[in-house]
Order: sequence, then structure tokens, then C-alpha cells
Amino acid sequence: MRIRPRRNRQSEGIRGLVRETRLGVDQLIYPLFITGNASAKNAIKSLPGQFQLGRKELLEEVESSLKLGLGSFVLFPAVPESKKDSVASYSYADDNFYLEAARELKEKFPEIVLMSDVAMDPYSSDGHDGLVEDGEIVNDNTLPILSRMAVAQAQAGFDLIGPSDMMDGRVGHIRRELDHVGYPNTGILAYTAKYASAFYGPFRDALESAPKGGDKKTYQMDPANSNEALREAFLDEEEGADMLMVKPALCYLDIIKLLKDHSNLPIAAYNVSGEYAMLKAAAANGWLDEEAAMHEMLLSIRRSGADIILTYFAKDYAKILSR
Ligand code: PBG
Repeated sequence: MRIRPRRNRQSEGIRGLVRETRLGVDQLIYPLFITGNASAKNAIKSLPGQFQLGRKELLEEVESSLKLGLGSFVLFPAVPESKKDSVASYSYADDNFYLEAARELKEKFPEIVLMSDVAMDPYSSDGHDGLVEDGEIVNDNTLPILSRMAVAQAQAGFDLIGPSDMMDGRVGHIRRELDHVGYPNTGILAYTAKYASAFYGPFRDALESAPKGGDKKTYQMDPANSNEALREAFLDEEEGADMLMVKPALCYLDIIKLLKDHSNLPIAAYNVSGEYAMLKAAAANGWLDEEAAMHEMLLSIRRSGADIILTYFAKDYAKILSR
């Protein structure tokens, strides 16, 4: 045989030379769930290894991550039911613990990249990402609420605003408002192709943010569609997004590739809660080798075209790399 592909696989050294895809900790964003308590570390049952953190524990978590070279974080607030209302007013309230946490983190660790989540669901008594009027999730009246939330986040020091709500026109609306109040350098990482997925279950447990009625199918995308992802991508680019995201990641590797091939913007992928929980459960039963499967998952997401990965595995991966 003249041609033998196995020659390029014969030792770790040669495999290293020809390896096409690499993943560094600087390409990861670590999602953290936070509470308003001074101190807390509440285990999240369906997300083994992840916790609702109090202020003190959040600072510790960020500090220990930084020591591993992991410096980008996205925060999600677990808001008590008593602070929720139909217009998500707590999302931009002066005493909002989410905004206070961001202020404190950026003050203590100015070098970190802090990403926010913009959507009404953690603050909404209806549990929807948009405003509910007569049983419908309305689009245009939601936009000013989202922008107000985004401006409050920019003021608190978030570097990247992450609209995850899937309302039409929200990227443009938020961009205009940020510029208008003097935050032209605050970026937008848009949840561009966010699917109506069953894989968000554990996340909704973590925040107790599941919709009180109905589902999210009138705003999140149909898992059957890919043309629509391109349409969303062109709109988000047009409206001023700095980075685009595909979510979830593993069932949507084709969508990651599609956006990578059609856009010049950096592409992020969200390795969501259900994807993490599946592997954790299988590993706990001894059915999968957790470290090897995690590595393969993250590498596949990178190989399909993601520049950035949001993942609950971020710290585990950073620990392995630093070994
Ligand atoms: C809120 C939001 C969700 C996730 C991120 N932001 C849940 C949802 O849309 O219902 C899910 C993340 C995950 O599952 O890890 N809009």
C-alpha cells in the first residue's frame, strides 16, 4: 500500500502534530448561578457539581477559576418568588443582587470577562422570556423592558450583554439604548439560534424559572429548522451583535457549522444544562468515562466551528489542562 492513513496516528507525538482542533481555557465561558444571600452553596440536584452561590462563594469560585486560567463567566440569578412580577421590574431595580454581584466582581477582578443574561424569565411571575398579555407573549412591548435590563447590566460593569429571550428586534433595540446612554463599548453576544429545547430542564430547576403556563415555542426556534437560524444570524449581525450563539450545542452541531460558514462574527455555542446532566448521570452510573466523554463533547463543539463554548464543564476542563 502506498497510502496508509495510520502512519499519521502511530504515536502521541505524531497525533499531536496533525491535530486539527484545539481547545484552550481562554475559549470557555463558565456559567454560575447566584443568590442574593451573603453566603450559600445550595446543590442543584439535576446539575451535579453546580451550585446556587452566595456572594462569598461567588467570589471564591471566580478566584479559584482564575487560578486555573479560566477568566470568563456568565451569571444567572436565582430570584425569590416574592421579587417576581409580570413586568420583571426587579431585573433593573437598584437593590438587585445580580447587578451588585457584577459590580463587586468587576471591582475585585477587573480582568475577568463578565457576561449577562437578558430575558424576563428569572424575574417574571409568568416564567416567560417576554411580557405576557392576554395569554400571549408579546414582542414589541417586551423590548423596552429588555433594554432597561441591559442598560442596568452595562452600568453594573458587565462586559458582554447576552440577550437570550428570542424577541424580534431586541439586539438592535438594546444596541441603540446602550449607545444612547453612553455604553458604546459594551458588547452583545446574541443568543441567535436558540431552540425550543428539552435540554434546558435542569437550568429551569436551578432557577425555578420554568413557564407557569404554555411553552416557549412561539419565540424559541423549532428544532426541525436550519434556514431560520441563518435568517436570525443575518438579522443579529445587521442589528449590531458582536458575537453569535447557537444553543444547545450537541444536537445542533450542523447549525454551528452553518453559522460559522456564513458569518464573519465569532460563533459561540452553549453546551446546556441537559447536555451536562446527561453525561454526569451516565458517569455516575459507571456507564461512560466522564473525562474522556467530556473532552470529546467539547472538542466536537469546537470542531464544528464554535470559537467560544459556554459550558458547566469549564472548571473541570481547566483543572485537567492545568494538571
Ligand atoms: C433564559 C435562559 C435559559 C437558558 C439560558 N438562559 C432557559 C430557557 O430559555 O428556558 C438555558 C441554559 C441551560 O439549559 O444551560 N432565557
